[in-house]
Amino acid sequence: MRVICCNDYEEMSRKAAAVIVGQLTVNCGSVLGLATGSTPIGLYQELIDAYNRRAVDFSECVTFNLDEYREIEPSDRNSYHSFMENNFFGRINVRPGNTHMPDGLAPADEACARYEEAIERARGIDIQVLGIGNNGHIGFNEPAADFPVKTHVVELAEETRKANARFFSSLDAVPKSAITMGIGTIMKSRLIILLANGAGKAEILRRALCGPVTPEVPASILRFHNNVLAVVDREASSLL
Ligand code: GLP
Repeated sequence: MRVICCNDYEEMSRKAAAVIVGQLTVNCGSVLGLATGSTPIGLYQELIDAYNRRAVDFSECVTFNLDEYREIEPSDRNSYHSFMENNFFGRINVRPGNTHMPDGLAPADEACARYEEAIERARGIDIQVLGIGNNGHIGFNEPAADFPVKTHVVELAEETRKANARFFSSLDAVPKSAITMGIGTIMKSRLIILLANGAGKAEILRRALCGPVTPEVPASILRFHNNVLAVVDREASSLL
Protein backbone atom coordinates (compact mmCIF):
# COMPACT_ATOMS: atom_id res chain seq x y z
CA MET A 1 0.00 0.00 0.00
CA ARG A 2 1.29 3.44 -0.86
CA VAL A 3 0.44 6.08 1.73
CA ILE A 4 0.41 9.70 0.59
CA CYS A 5 0.38 12.09 3.55
CA CYS A 6 -1.08 15.45 2.67
CA ASN A 7 -0.95 18.68 4.64
CA ASP A 8 -4.70 19.12 4.77
CA TYR A 9 -8.11 18.09 3.45
CA GLU A 10 -7.77 20.29 0.35
CA GLU A 11 -4.49 18.68 -0.68
CA MET A 12 -5.92 15.21 -0.04
CA SER A 13 -8.92 16.00 -2.24
CA ARG A 14 -6.75 17.53 -4.98
CA LYS A 15 -4.36 14.58 -5.12
CA ALA A 16 -7.14 12.00 -5.26
CA ALA A 17 -8.89 14.03 -7.99
CA ALA A 18 -5.66 14.16 -10.01
CA VAL A 19 -5.49 10.36 -10.07
CA ILE A 20 -9.09 10.12 -11.30
CA VAL A 21 -8.62 12.84 -13.92
CA GLY A 22 -5.50 11.00 -15.11
CA GLN A 23 -7.44 7.73 -15.39
CA LEU A 24 -10.24 9.38 -17.39
CA THR A 25 -7.69 11.12 -19.62
CA VAL A 26 -6.16 7.78 -20.51
CA ASN A 27 -9.53 5.98 -20.78
CA CYS A 28 -12.66 8.12 -20.91
CA GLY A 29 -14.81 4.99 -20.56
CA SER A 30 -13.31 4.03 -17.20
CA VAL A 31 -15.44 2.48 -14.48
CA LEU A 32 -15.35 4.42 -11.21
CA GLY A 33 -16.45 3.06 -7.85
CA LEU A 34 -17.73 5.90 -5.69
CA ALA A 35 -18.30 6.51 -2.00
CA THR A 36 -20.52 8.74 0.10
CA GLY A 37 -19.90 10.37 3.49
CA SER A 38 -18.28 13.70 4.22
CA THR A 39 -14.75 12.55 3.31
CA PRO A 40 -15.07 12.47 -0.53
CA ILE A 41 -17.05 15.73 -0.85
CA GLY A 42 -13.85 17.72 -1.46
CA LEU A 43 -12.74 15.19 -4.08
CA TYR A 44 -16.09 15.55 -5.88
CA GLN A 45 -15.76 19.35 -5.75
CA GLU A 46 -12.27 19.11 -7.29
CA LEU A 47 -13.65 16.90 -10.07
CA ILE A 48 -16.53 19.31 -10.68
CA ASP A 49 -14.02 22.18 -10.89
CA ALA A 50 -11.89 20.17 -13.35
CA TYR A 51 -15.02 19.50 -15.42
CA ASN A 52 -15.89 23.21 -15.43
CA ARG A 53 -12.35 23.98 -16.65
CA ARG A 54 -12.89 21.35 -19.36
CA ALA A 55 -9.99 19.37 -17.95
CA VAL A 56 -12.07 16.18 -17.73
CA ASP A 57 -15.06 14.66 -19.49
CA PHE A 58 -17.43 12.23 -17.76
CA SER A 59 -19.70 11.54 -20.73
CA GLU A 60 -18.36 8.04 -21.33
CA CYS A 61 -17.51 6.99 -17.80
CA VAL A 62 -19.51 4.47 -15.82
CA THR A 63 -19.98 4.60 -12.04
CA PHE A 64 -20.97 2.19 -9.29
CA ASN A 65 -21.59 3.39 -5.76
CA LEU A 66 -20.59 1.31 -2.79
CA ASP A 67 -23.84 1.30 -0.90
CA GLU A 68 -27.35 2.56 -0.23
CA TYR A 69 -29.67 2.49 2.74
CA ARG A 70 -32.50 -0.05 2.68
CA GLU A 71 -36.10 1.03 2.53
CA ILE A 72 -35.49 4.62 1.71
CA GLU A 73 -36.83 6.22 -1.48
CA PRO A 74 -34.13 7.35 -3.93
CA SER A 75 -35.76 10.80 -3.81
CA ASP A 76 -35.42 11.00 0.01
CA ARG A 77 -32.96 13.76 0.83
CA ASN A 78 -30.93 11.34 2.98
CA SER A 79 -30.63 8.60 0.39
CA TYR A 80 -27.22 8.06 -1.14
CA HIS A 81 -28.95 8.55 -4.52
CA SER A 82 -29.69 12.14 -3.43
CA PHE A 83 -26.21 12.58 -1.96
CA MET A 84 -24.56 11.63 -5.26
CA GLU A 85 -26.97 13.73 -7.33
CA ASN A 86 -26.39 16.83 -5.18
CA ASN A 87 -22.66 16.47 -4.62
CA PHE A 88 -21.53 15.11 -7.96
CA PHE A 89 -23.73 13.62 -10.68
CA GLY A 90 -26.00 16.64 -11.03
CA ARG A 91 -23.00 18.91 -11.60
CA ILE A 92 -21.03 17.00 -14.25
CA ASN A 93 -21.88 15.48 -17.64
CA VAL A 94 -22.07 11.82 -16.57
CA ARG A 95 -24.96 10.06 -18.32
CA PRO A 96 -27.68 9.10 -15.83
CA GLY A 97 -27.87 5.65 -17.46
CA ASN A 98 -24.18 5.11 -16.70
CA THR A 99 -24.50 5.68 -12.93
CA HIS A 100 -25.37 2.73 -10.73
CA MET A 101 -26.45 2.59 -7.11
CA PRO A 102 -27.61 -0.46 -5.16
CA ASP A 103 -31.41 -0.67 -5.07
CA GLY A 104 -32.49 -0.28 -1.45
CA LEU A 105 -36.15 -0.94 -2.26
CA ALA A 106 -36.04 -4.15 -4.34
CA PRO A 107 -36.15 -7.60 -2.68
CA ALA A 108 -32.70 -8.13 -1.17
CA ASP A 109 -31.50 -11.21 -3.08
CA GLU A 110 -32.57 -9.80 -6.41
CA ALA A 111 -31.00 -6.37 -5.77
CA CYS A 112 -27.68 -7.89 -4.65
CA ALA A 113 -27.39 -10.33 -7.57
CA ARG A 114 -28.33 -7.65 -10.09
CA TYR A 115 -25.66 -5.29 -8.75
CA GLU A 116 -22.89 -7.89 -8.91
CA GLU A 117 -23.92 -8.78 -12.48
CA ALA A 118 -23.92 -5.13 -13.56
CA ILE A 119 -20.36 -4.65 -12.22
CA GLU A 120 -19.22 -7.79 -14.04
CA ARG A 121 -20.90 -6.69 -17.27
CA ALA A 122 -18.96 -3.42 -17.02
CA ARG A 123 -15.77 -5.54 -16.71
CA GLY A 124 -15.08 -4.50 -13.12
CA ILE A 125 -14.06 -1.29 -11.44
CA ASP A 126 -10.96 0.62 -12.52
CA ILE A 127 -10.73 2.94 -9.51
CA GLN A 128 -12.68 2.46 -6.29
CA VAL A 129 -12.84 5.41 -3.91
CA LEU A 130 -13.25 4.52 -0.22
CA GLY A 131 -13.72 6.42 2.99
CA ILE A 132 -13.37 4.65 6.31
CA GLY A 133 -15.98 4.47 9.05
CA ASN A 134 -15.11 5.15 12.68
CA ASN A 135 -15.24 1.40 13.33
CA GLY A 136 -13.16 0.54 10.25
CA HIS A 137 -16.05 -0.19 7.91
CA ILE A 138 -15.65 0.25 4.16
CA GLY A 139 -18.83 0.75 2.18
CA PHE A 140 -21.20 -0.59 4.82
CA ASN A 141 -19.12 -3.71 5.54
CA GLU A 142 -19.31 -3.57 9.31
CA PRO A 143 -16.94 -5.34 11.74
CA ALA A 144 -17.98 -9.00 11.66
CA ALA A 145 -16.77 -12.55 12.11
CA ASP A 146 -15.72 -12.82 8.46
CA PHE A 147 -15.26 -10.75 5.30
CA PRO A 148 -18.48 -10.76 3.24
CA VAL A 149 -17.57 -11.50 -0.37
CA LYS A 150 -20.40 -10.13 -2.50
CA THR A 151 -22.99 -7.38 -2.47
CA HIS A 152 -25.26 -8.09 0.48
CA VAL A 153 -27.71 -6.63 2.96
CA VAL A 154 -26.22 -5.62 6.27
CA GLU A 155 -27.61 -4.58 9.65
CA LEU A 156 -25.93 -1.30 10.51
CA ALA A 157 -23.83 -1.15 13.66
CA GLU A 158 -25.22 1.14 16.35
CA GLU A 159 -21.98 3.17 16.13
CA THR A 160 -22.53 3.70 12.40
CA ARG A 161 -26.16 4.75 12.88
CA LYS A 162 -25.08 7.22 15.56
CA ALA A 163 -22.28 8.61 13.34
CA ASN A 164 -24.69 9.03 10.42
CA ALA A 165 -27.52 10.45 12.56
CA ARG A 166 -26.06 13.91 11.96
CA PHE A 167 -27.64 13.85 8.49
CA PHE A 168 -31.10 12.77 9.74
CA SER A 169 -33.76 14.44 11.90
CA SER A 170 -33.11 11.95 14.72
CA LEU A 171 -31.31 8.68 15.46
CA ASP A 172 -34.63 6.85 15.02
CA ALA A 173 -34.86 8.13 11.45
CA VAL A 174 -31.55 6.46 10.46
CA PRO A 175 -32.28 3.22 8.57
CA LYS A 176 -31.31 0.04 10.39
CA SER A 177 -29.99 -1.77 7.32
CA ALA A 178 -28.27 -1.11 4.04
CA ILE A 179 -27.12 -2.84 0.87
CA THR A 180 -23.40 -2.73 0.22
CA MET A 181 -20.81 -4.08 -2.16
CA GLY A 182 -18.98 -6.93 -0.44
CA ILE A 183 -15.34 -6.92 0.54
CA GLY A 184 -14.68 -9.29 -2.37
CA THR A 185 -16.40 -6.89 -4.78
CA ILE A 186 -14.25 -4.02 -3.52
CA MET A 187 -11.04 -6.08 -3.59
CA LYS A 188 -11.54 -6.90 -7.28
CA SER A 189 -11.14 -3.18 -8.17
CA ARG A 190 -7.95 -2.55 -10.11
CA LEU A 191 -6.96 0.48 -8.02
CA ILE A 192 -8.36 1.52 -4.64
CA ILE A 193 -8.03 5.06 -3.30
CA LEU A 194 -8.59 5.11 0.46
CA LEU A 195 -9.29 8.60 1.81
CA ALA A 196 -9.14 9.62 5.45
CA ASN A 197 -8.96 13.02 7.08
CA GLY A 198 -9.18 14.53 10.52
CA ALA A 199 -7.94 13.52 13.96
CA GLY A 200 -11.09 11.45 14.51
CA LYS A 201 -9.87 8.92 11.93
CA ALA A 202 -6.27 8.62 13.26
CA GLU A 203 -6.81 5.66 15.58
CA ILE A 204 -8.93 3.59 13.18
CA LEU A 205 -6.48 4.33 10.36
CA ARG A 206 -3.65 3.09 12.56
CA ARG A 207 -5.57 -0.11 13.31
CA ALA A 208 -6.42 -0.63 9.62
CA LEU A 209 -2.93 0.04 8.29
CA CYS A 210 -0.70 -1.19 11.12
CA GLY A 211 -2.77 -3.64 13.20
CA PRO A 212 -3.71 -7.23 12.41
CA VAL A 213 -5.69 -7.96 9.25
CA THR A 214 -9.04 -8.97 10.70
CA PRO A 215 -12.74 -8.74 9.79
CA GLU A 216 -13.13 -6.84 13.06
CA VAL A 217 -11.46 -3.97 11.19
CA PRO A 218 -12.84 -4.47 7.66
CA ALA A 219 -10.48 -1.87 6.08
CA SER A 220 -7.47 -3.90 7.22
CA ILE A 221 -8.11 -6.33 4.30
CA LEU A 222 -6.88 -3.61 1.94
CA ARG A 223 -3.32 -4.55 2.91
CA PHE A 224 -3.82 -7.73 0.84
CA HIS A 225 -4.63 -5.69 -2.29
CA ASN A 226 -1.67 -4.94 -4.52
CA ASN A 227 -2.73 -1.50 -5.71
CA VAL A 228 -4.03 0.72 -2.91
CA LEU A 229 -3.30 4.39 -2.61
CA ALA A 230 -4.10 5.72 0.85
CA VAL A 231 -4.41 9.49 0.51
CA VAL A 232 -4.66 10.93 4.00
CA ASP A 233 -4.25 14.28 5.71
CA ARG A 234 -1.73 15.06 8.42
CA GLU A 235 -4.21 14.63 11.30
CA ALA A 236 -5.49 11.25 10.15
CA SER A 237 -1.92 10.00 9.63
CA SER A 238 -0.67 11.20 13.02
CA LEU A 239 -0.59 7.69 14.59
CA LEU A 240 0.92 5.82 11.63
C1 GLP B 1 -20.75 5.91 5.65
C2 GLP B 1 -20.47 5.27 4.29
C3 GLP B 1 -19.01 4.92 4.10
C4 GLP B 1 -18.14 6.06 4.57
C5 GLP B 1 -18.34 6.29 6.03
C6 GLP B 1 -17.46 7.39 6.61
O1 GLP B 1 -21.18 5.04 6.62
N1 GLP B 1 -21.27 4.12 4.05
O2 GLP B 1 -18.78 4.62 2.73
O3 GLP B 1 -16.78 5.79 4.30
O4 GLP B 1 -19.69 6.65 6.23
O5 GLP B 1 -18.11 8.61 6.55
P1 GLP B 1 -17.40 10.01 6.67
O6 GLP B 1 -16.63 10.20 5.41
O7 GLP B 1 -18.53 11.00 6.78
O8 GLP B 1 -16.54 9.96 7.87
